[in-house]
Amino acid sequence: MIRPLLALALLATPATAQDIDRGARLFAQNCAVCHGAGLQGDGPMAGLLVTPPPDLTRIAERYDGSFPRAGMAWKIDGRDPIVSHGGDMPLFGFVFSDMTELLRSPGGQTVLTSPEVIDLVAYLESVQD
Ligand code: HEC
Repeated sequence: MIRPLLALALLATPATAQDIDRGARLFAQNCAVCHGAGLQGDGPMAGLLVTPPPDLTRIAERYDGSFPRAGMAWKIDGRDPIVSHGGDMPLFGFVFSDMTELLRSPGGQTVLTSPEVIDLVAYLESVQD
């Protein structure tokens, strides 16, 4: 009867939404290879890509000064496909398969995505120049 107990324990301690530290860890493990450990687009794989990875500390600057939370979630979870993210075969599907959390935008828009994507978006928002 270990399984039901484990399930209960997991339910009792849901992953905290908007955990910036976890977002930073996920980024180091899954994203830095292209985007760079400092997020400026200079990861070891960057030179191999046809489209260079953008500087992720300047997202807000590129989008008229406001950080587009929902749009970034879609680009990470694959609903807005990016060829270098795997296009129709998202590279991070295995990490982000559990679309159970609501991401809220300042404008009131809500988007259903995974806890990992919420933490990644919170991390990216925290490092904007
Ligand atoms: C294989 C290389 C690669 C990996 C790994 C990768 N990216 Fe990207 N990413 C890119 C490239 C290249 C672009 C720009 C593509 C374009 O504009 O068409 C991009 C674009 C983005 C954008 C859009 C930025 C903007 O200004 O619109 C975000 C956000 C992003 N990546 C986040 C992530 C996150 C988070 C991860 C890890 C979960 C990740 N990327 C992993 C190569 C990569």
